[in-house]
Amino acid sequence: MKKITIAIDGFSSTGKSTLAKQLAKELGYAYVDTGAMYRAVTYFAMKNNWVSETNLNTIEVIKNLSNINLEFRFNEQLGFAEMFLNNVNVENEIRTIEVSRCVSKIAEISEVRTILVKQQQQMGKNKAVVMDGRDIGTVVFPDAELKLFMTASAQTRAQRRFDELVEKGQMITFEDVLQNVQERDYIDTHRDDSPLVKASDAIEIDNSSMSKDEQFNLVLLMVNEKLNL
Ligand code: DC
Repeated sequence: MKKITIAIDGFSSTGKSTLAKQLAKELGYAYVDTGAMYRAVTYFAMKNNWVSETNLNTIEVIKNLSNINLEFRFNEQLGFAEMFLNNVNVENEIRTIEVSRCVSKIAEISEVRTILVKQQQQMGKNKAVVMDGRDIGTVVFPDAELKLFMTASAQTRAQRRFDELVEKGQMITFEDVLQNVQERDYIDTHRDDSPLVKASDAIEIDNSSMSKDEQFNLVLLMVNEKLNL
């Protein structure tokens, strides 16, 4: 059976990871959440006081990159891989609003991107992978057979993220989440290195008014078309 690479890029909280997990399960492919990698580096930098909402010590972050070991370990019960930072499961810690507020600063550092992109290319070198992020179809796998670019209105995305965080018991207001979504959109699309941009051969999906199943079925048709080529 032919194996392909599926690159899913787009704005934050557009449901990239939900779709990627569904596809990986259906196809028996590996799923790589590259945002988790940037989040884990950010969490490490926060714990060492190298980054906060108001400060960034780029030199210390770069100097210590070799002390950061990232690993995805598959959790059979959950059905997806969890992020381990230096052998510790940080899956919950990296999803907080505090990490979300600092992650774009870390993702702007070219040295961080170079290392993480290399690791991502290594993980996907045998194809049969669904990878989501901001630069997968443009930088990590420019030759991916299927590239998707996900969008939805900022309001819709903030509402989804807010519901998720509340469900996890985090104390947060909708306005805070909306502000964070809009700030990250701005930084992600305006940074010098690998800004979020739709690859010329990516298919754009606006899922503001699409259900998860509708979206999944639509994309599955696209996948089957690529597999049958
Ligand atoms: O997908 P996410 O929201 O978990 O990603 C967290 C941050 O990481 C996002 O604000 C931008 C950055 N990121 C990136 O710059 N490149 C990627 N390939 C993935 C994420």
